[in-house]
Amino acid sequence: MNKAVLVTGGAGYIGSHTTVELLEAGHQVVILDNLCNANREVFNRIEQITGNAPIFIQGDIRNSLTLDLVMQLYPIHTVIHFAGLKAVGESGQQPLNYYENNVHGTIVLCQAMQRAGIKRLIFSSSATVYGEEAPVPYIETLPRGKTSNPYGTSKSMVEQVLTDLYKADPEWSIVLLRYFNPIGAHDSGLIGEDPRGIPNNLMPYIAQVAIGRLQQLSIFGSDYPTQDGTCERDYLHVVDLAIGHLKSMQALDSAGIHIYNLGTGQPVSVLSMVKTFEEVTQQPLPYRITDRRAGDLAAFWADASKAENELGWKAERTLKQMIEDTWRWQSNNPNGYER
Ligand code: NAD
Ligand code: WQD
Repeated sequence: MNKAVLVTGGAGYIGSHTTVELLEAGHQVVILDNLCNANREVFNRIEQITGNAPIFIQGDIRNSLTLDLVMQLYPIHTVIHFAGLKAVGESGQQPLNYYENNVHGTIVLCQAMQRAGIKRLIFSSSATVYGEEAPVPYIETLPRGKTSNPYGTSKSMVEQVLTDLYKADPEWSIVLLRYFNPIGAHDSGLIGEDPRGIPNNLMPYIAQVAIGRLQQLSIFGSDYPTQDGTCERDYLHVVDLAIGHLKSMQALDSAGIHIYNLGTGQPVSVLSMVKTFEEVTQQPLPYRITDRRAGDLAAFWADASKAENELGWKAERTLKQMIEDTWRWQSNNPNGYER
């Protein structure tokens, strides 16, 4: 077997799209996922798209024996680390669970990598690490800021752990990718975002209202200091984000901590997302305006020029494509991977 990429959390939303891009670029992929937020059906879909199957090991990143075994069995050269918990509200109710999965889990993973002599890591970080008071657009030279929930704090803590790891052992090359708001789906309509229970995030909520699984969207606040009063975010297509991981593998060729924002650089308001979704899909989208959601910031978006200048990566897919692809996935799979 040629050298392989270990993808933790590869059965999830962003991990599955990245796996498709890796396989299509000719990489061998080994996925480690405990399926706590994923469905095995995703592997059939990945195979339908690429004609290739990743190796799948059901297991937990917090289990060092599993990690040692995986790293002994397969010639891993790079780890792309997606595995973790990501629900902001839930993180406030279950902080220990979030720190255990996201922070402790990453430490256990890095310890296993160290034992195996693998020192190339790409980590899924988040724009949330810029904190509550950073000026927009967010740029990588800003310091990490004060986060407002345990999920965000866990991402910031992991960035610190990885920075210290590199300081102690400068043979490591580590990429911290700060994602903005990924939405959309593969254009085959075969894989996409499949949240369990009622979605927390805007796009899957909209898609489930449009398909009739949910009655009405609540828009959280219309009195923000933005153009139309609703919050603005930098939504990027998940396939562009997946490609960003492949492009950032080149940064691993030099040791160091390499930080990149992955976003489009364009803010879009909640209300304009709703209107554009209606126009593109011709589906009515009932909504009402409700109170603000605690912890939401008015507006943030990326300065994504570093990724463009250094990696040659730029988000290319338009908002219309993000919506079309979401809608194709949702209408072909009204119940997600549960047929
Ligand atoms: P996801 O929940 O779809 O994928 C995460 C995957 O990790 C799931 O398949 C889950 O089963 C697996 N997993 C969780 N804990 C695990 C553990 N202890 N051991 C093994 N597997 C485990 O989430 P996603 O949207 O694909 O996000 C991937 C990564 O990107 C996460 O780290 C998330 O925090 C980060 N991120 C996501 C967003 C976003 O908006 N989706 C934004 C910024 C950062
Ligand atoms: C987007 C906008 C809401 C739902 C979160 C995390 C962040 C990152 C991405 C992982 C906001 C509004 C939403 C709804 C609404 N995740 N909204 N009605 O909050 O920007 O980011 O996910 O790292 O860390 O905080 O994304 O999709 O939840 O919300 O009006 O039912 O949509 O107020 O303005 P957010 P989101």
